[in-house]
Amino acid sequence: MYDVYQIRKDFPILAEKVNGKSVAFLDSAASAQKPTVVLDKMYEVYTNAYANPHRGSYFFAEQITREFENARCVVQKFINAESAKEIVFTRNATESINLVAATWGAKYLHAGDEVLISEAEHHANLVPWQHICEVTGAKLKVFAVSDEGDFVEENFIKKLNDKTKLVAVTAMSNVLGTIFPIKQITQKAHDAGALVLVDACQFAAHYPVDVQKWNCDFLAFSGHKAYGPTGIGALYGKAEILREMPPYQFGGDMIDNVTFDKTTFADIPARFEAGTAAFVQAIGMAEGLKYMENIGLDNLVSHENELTAYTLNLLEQVPNLQIVGMAKNRGGVFSFDVKGIHPQDLAFVLNKENVAVRTGHHCAQPIVNRMGYTSLARASFGLYTVKEDIDALFAALIKAEKFFREN
Ligand code: ALA
Repeated sequence: MYDVYQIRKDFPILAEKVNGKSVAFLDSAASAQKPTVVLDKMYEVYTNAYANPHRGSYFFAEQITREFENARCVVQKFINAESAKEIVFTRNATESINLVAATWGAKYLHAGDEVLISEAEHHANLVPWQHICEVTGAKLKVFAVSDEGDFVEENFIKKLNDKTKLVAVTAMSNVLGTIFPIKQITQKAHDAGALVLVDACQFAAHYPVDVQKWNCDFLAFSGHKAYGPTGIGALYGKAEILREMPPYQFGGDMIDNVTFDKTTFADIPARFEAGTAAFVQAIGMAEGLKYMENIGLDNLVSHENELTAYTLNLLEQVPNLQIVGMAKNRGGVFSFDVKGIHPQDLAFVLNKENVAVRTGHHCAQPIVNRMGYTSLARASFGLYTVKEDIDALFAALIKAEKFFREN
């Protein structure tokens, strides 16, 4: 039984008051709040069990090595990877994607090759490809979404051909909320001989991920959007592909043998984890994922669907408000524009009403521009979001719209 009011008690920040009033936190797509289990676990590690993993053979060092590697297994299970060796810890999803671009991209992309992305990509799944294409002479191709923000198979197929070496696509847009059919995309991409990288940053915080079912070749996501700490993310890659990729960074822990003449490198995943890892954060990330699993991903999906329908209904009643992104298959991310009010002004009024939303281009300028805007306001949900938060947003929007229309 999903008791969201009970769940809210796990998040200390949700009890905080600003100017004596509670806050409707509607910016979980930017970063989710943290449950006590994550905070406690990290405090416990720093307080009672701290040492550098993979290095010492004393008690704390061995204990932390086990915890760190166990965190990797939690991530493996969370995305249903075949082996924990396929999980590389990184700083965040951005670093995961940069790692693939800088290693796989540098090795396999050549002049004339193509990398295909969707129009709805976050800069993190666009700029690294743009850069590596410039370096290698490959071409960056983009397939369009519909005006409502839907995935359109025809548009995708039109841009996919035997020059396409990689399709890099989000599982859920952080602007439109669109959920992309990854299994379908992967099948078509593989038929054309291309690999697939999935940006699952938004998706993984709301829906179950199954890399074996999707059959994607790479997947990136971050800890902080999935109720874990900042500074930690994961890259999944199929073992046989990761093993053929050159290292990303060079230094401690990623080597097999070092002499002044030559260095050989460790097996995966260590080969991609140079230097002291953010292991406390990795352990915290695993705790966040376990927290989601304990609640039940199915419960999260039902809660999110209910809130999504509730929000759509309310937002449609705000005069002059345009929801940007009305895909049939969408999750709890709502970007919107209120005619005649700059999103920054809107956010100013919403903030006065203790409603926290994000404004701007959401690190996805091309899709915001394509939809006809330079800036949008965005409300997004977490597993602790309640209808009262949406009611607060609705009331504040009505107030703002009236104020700006009359003044
Ligand atoms: N990518 C994050 C967002 O959409 C930061 O807000």
